Amino acid sequence: MTAKRILFTGGSGKAGKHVVPYLLDQGHKVLNVDLKPLDHPGVDNLTADITQSGEMFNAMTSYANFGELEPGTGVPKFDAVVHFAAVPRILINPDNETFRVNTIGTYNVIEAAVKLGIRKIIIASSETTYGICFADGEVDPDYLPVDEDYKINPMDSYGLSKVVNEETARAFQRRSGFDIYALRIGNVIEPHEYDRFPGFFENPIQRRRNIFCYIDARDLGQIVDLCLEKDGLGYQVFNAGNNNNSVNIPSAEIAKRFFPNVPLKHTLDEEEALYSNRKIREMLGFKEQHNWRKYV
Ligand SMILES: NC(=O)c1ccc[n+]([C@@H]2O[C@H](COP(=O)([O-])OP(=O)(O)OC[C@H]3O[C@@H](n4cnc5c(N)ncnc54)[C@H](O)[C@@H]3O)[C@@H](O)[C@H]2O)c1
Repeated sequence: MTAKRILFTGGSGKAGKHVVPYLLDQGHKVLNVDLKPLDHPGVDNLTADITQSGEMFNAMTSYANFGELEPGTGVPKFDAVVHFAAVPRILINPDNETFRVNTIGTYNVIEAAVKLGIRKIIIASSETTYGICFADGEVDPDYLPVDEDYKINPMDSYGLSKVVNEETARAFQRRSGFDIYALRIGNVIEPHEYDRFPGFFENPIQRRRNIFCYIDARDLGQIVDLCLEKDGLGYQVFNAGNNNNSVNIPSAEIAKRFFPNVPLKHTLDEEEALYSNRKIREMLGFKEQHNWRKYV
């Protein structure tokens, strides 16, 4: 593991407040760029707005703390940018504002990182790009398990903003040749949220819009760290989910009960996630540490 100097946007949020400590535990240095600080030992904070391009260029060329003044060798360079800041779903802000913040913000972050020569960029995309989560009515996926080859087609402003962000990432990767990886993050579960799972088991249909996916916030930290370690993949999209589904029903039965008309890509293993995480396991070496069965 190589310790890196990382600029992390949105580290004060639900996912970031677990992913940032995970990265610190691996020995990385993290500057959290957010509208509000993350109160956690060892994290440096800078208040800045991703929708302001100048603030992103400035943040990426700044000292992270007073200690960095001491060597007298100028501002150190960031090795990587991890971009999580966003409006995290529909129905928080008006739809146009969700779209504006997420697309302009992501453009600004990636553009600044690429133009400043930061060769590793990881962005938070979303399960919602698959078009099931925030669809009007009940929508079937084209096939199961959904994997990264799927032709994504959301109909909501948030999911659309994430599709645009993936295209922005792809364009900047083509121009620069740098590594830009987009994580299609599933429904994030914090450690204290496992008490929601008995409710999922009683009423499993509430997980259908998530394609029964969950990602433990700490396991998401591992995925981000693996992305930081793995160089040379160019532009990549990775589903970020745990190995199993978020209910206590065999996978084939979930498919039969909740997606009776959806073709299966292959015969499902007993507990196989309908939101495929095969790519992160095979390409990045992801090994989940926080299966729900440990906590429920
Ligand atoms: N939580 C989930 O289940 C989930 C699922 C899929 C994808 N995601 C994505 O993962 C990322 C993190 O999600 P989260 O649940 O932690 O969201 P969150 O809302 O809890 O955290 C987002 C953070 O971004 C910051 N932020 C918002 N607008 C900003 C701006 N203009 N400038 C600077 N900072 C700003 C907020 O202050 C907040 O701390 C987001 O990109 C989200 O779209 C989350």
